[in-house]
Amino acid sequence: MSEKKKHKVYFEPVDIEIEAGEDETVLDAAFRQGVMLMHGCKEGQCAACKAVLLDGDMDMDPFSTFALNEFEEGEGYVLLCRAHAYSDLEVELIGYHEDMLQTGIPLQRINTEVEEIEDLTHDMKRLVLNLVDPPEMQFIPGQYAELYIPGTQEHRAYSMANTPATDKRAEFIIRVYPDGRFSSDLLDNELKVGDSLTMQVPYGVFTLREKSEGDIIFIGGGSGMAPILSILKHMAENGIERNATYYYGARTRKDLFYLDEIQELGEQMPGEFRFVPALSEPEDDDDWDGETGLITDVIERLEDDLSEMEAYLAGPPPMIDAAMPVLKSMGVGEDHIYYDKFTQTSHTPEGEEQGEEGEGQGVESGPEFPGKA
Ligand code: FES
Repeated sequence: MSEKKKHKVYFEPVDIEIEAGEDETVLDAAFRQGVMLMHGCKEGQCAACKAVLLDGDMDMDPFSTFALNEFEEGEGYVLLCRAHAYSDLEVELIGYHEDMLQTGIPLQRINTEVEEIEDLTHDMKRLVLNLVDPPEMQFIPGQYAELYIPGTQEHRAYSMANTPATDKRAEFIIRVYPDGRFSSDLLDNELKVGDSLTMQVPYGVFTLREKSEGDIIFIGGGSGMAPILSILKHMAENGIERNATYYYGARTRKDLFYLDEIQELGEQMPGEFRFVPALSEPEDDDDWDGETGLITDVIERLEDDLSEMEAYLAGPPPMIDAAMPVLKSMGVGEDHIYYDKFTQTSHTPEGEEQGEEGEGQGVESGPEFPGKA
C-alpha cells in the first residue's frame, strides 16, 4: 500500500505554512503542528472553521449544510475540519485569534488517573486527574480537553479549571445530567479514585487576549465557571494588572459554589476585582442578600458604560444569547466579545439535546462575528 502523501498548506493572511497528510483533516494537521485555528464542533456542524480555498485540490468529508451551504461551497468556502488536501493548498482564514495562531502547543494524548471527585453542588462535580503519561501538559488558560469514555472512541469536552502552573494535574468542573453518558453514567456512578482516563488536550480559543490592557467583564453560568476560573487564576499568578468584574448567574443558593474561593482569588489579583453572584429564582429559605434576577438584568442595573471593556462569556447558550445584545447596547464592541457556549455535545449519540447546558462543551466559541479575533 502506498504511503499517504503530504502536502503544504499555506494560510493567508497570516503567512503560516503547515504540512497536511491526505489521511488527516487540515484542522487536525494544524493542531498537530501547534497551530490553533478557529474551531468548534470539529465535525462539520458549526461553521467555526470556515475558510476560503484560494488554490489547490481538496476533498471534504460529509458536513451539515447549516455549516456550509451549496452556494457558499460554489463560492470556494470550505470547512477545515472536513477538508483533506490532495495537492498543495492556499487557504484564506476568515476568523482567527492572532495570539493563539502559533501557540506551538501540539495536541497531546495523556493517560491520567482519577485523583479526586468532589461534589460542588447537588449537580456539579469537581474532577481532578493526575497526569501519568506524559506526566505534564501544556495549555492556555480557558482551553478545554476531550475526555474519553473508557473502551470507546467517544469523548466529551470540558474546560480546565486550573492553570498550567498546577503541576501534574488537570481539574474540571462538570455538571451532571440525568442521562449524560460521561457525567451521569461514568462520573456520577462508576468512576472512582485510581481509575484510568485518557484525554486529548488542548483545544479551544476562549483565552485571554493578552495584548489588550482594557478592563474586563466576565459573565458565567453553570460549569462555565471552569474556563473563567482558569483565566482568573492565570491573571493572579502572572500579575496581570487589569481590572475585572465577574458576574455569575445561578438559579438558587444551592446552585452557587466557590464564593469564598473567588473572593480570595480576587484579593491576589493586582487589578481591582469585583465578584457579583446573582440568583434568578431565590427560594424563601435561601437567606440571600446578594443580587437577584437574570444576570443580564443585574448587569444592566449595576453597569453603565461598558464601551472600554472586553467581555468574556462562558455558559449555557440562552445566557450568552441574552447577554450579547445587552453588552452591545452598553457599548462593548462586537469584536471585543468572546464566548464559549456550552451547547449540546457534538459527540452525543444521535446528537440529542441535553437541556439548556449540554454535557460537554466547546461546540461553538469565538467572537460573534468572523474577522480577526
Ligand atoms: S464545522 Fe468545522 S469546527 Fe464546526
